[in-house]
Amino acid sequence: MIKCENLQKTYPLKKGQGYQALSGIDLEIGRGEFAAVTGPSGCGKSTLLNILGLLDNPDGGRYLLEGRDVSRFDDAERSDLRLRTVGFVFQSFNLLPRFSAAENVRLPMLYRGVPKEEAAERARALLEKVGLKGKADNTPLELSGGERQRVGIARALANDPVLLLADEPTGNLDSRTGLEVMDLLRSLNAAGLTILMVTHDLNLARAAGRTIKVRDGRIEP
Ligand SMILES: Nc1ncnc2c1ncn2[C@@H]1O[C@H](COP(=O)(O)OP(=O)(O)O)[C@@H](O)[C@H]1O
Ligand SMILES: [Mg+2]
Repeated sequence: MIKCENLQKTYPLKKGQGYQALSGIDLEIGRGEFAAVTGPSGCGKSTLLNILGLLDNPDGGRYLLEGRDVSRFDDAERSDLRLRTVGFVFQSFNLLPRFSAAENVRLPMLYRGVPKEEAAERARALLEKVGLKGKADNTPLELSGGERQRVGIARALANDPVLLLADEPTGNLDSRTGLEVMDLLRSLNAAGLTILMVTHDLNLARAAGRTIKVRDGRIEP
């Protein structure tokens, strides 16, 4: 599903200078895999996830997503494909505070042009799927941390992605709640979803099928 060859990313700094965050990533992820991405802070995990999730472009190497070379896509092509292909889960949930859980989940469908009623119905079904039946009308402030992350996961599933990317999804949760979120991710993976999850928690990494170790912008063998 994913194939990266010698992916490079340099962030521009001052005139003529740059910081090389990825210095040659080779990586293959098969359909249906659940892989944990680990490594010290600053080693390039989020940079890698953002590129894999079509939020950012590499400036060297190749990225094939489902056989398509997306590394040279322009911004419009990238965001269009992202909306239909990738779901993102964030450490700090990134929910809109004035919107209900159902409205947060509905939003990516509206961006894609799904009719309002249909989107609302699907949002409720997704919230039920992640264990939040009865909380659809709560705003994020009226939910616990674990519940907020379940909303985040339901939102990531809104457009039926083939790839779920989660950047430290349990980083703001206590360990018991983190395990519950991990159980939810595992059940989604068991149903066929390909998942890549950044985590510092070695127990959670072990619970995923595979661990990818990043160091200094490279994958450790
Ligand atoms: N937008 C940016 N501009 C400049 N440097 C950045 C930017 N984003 C990340 N970096 C740098 O790139 C390196 C990798 O960052 P990141 O991928 O966020 O690491 P990780 O997620 O593993 O902690 C870090 O040294 C970070 O400071
Ligand atoms: Mg990070």
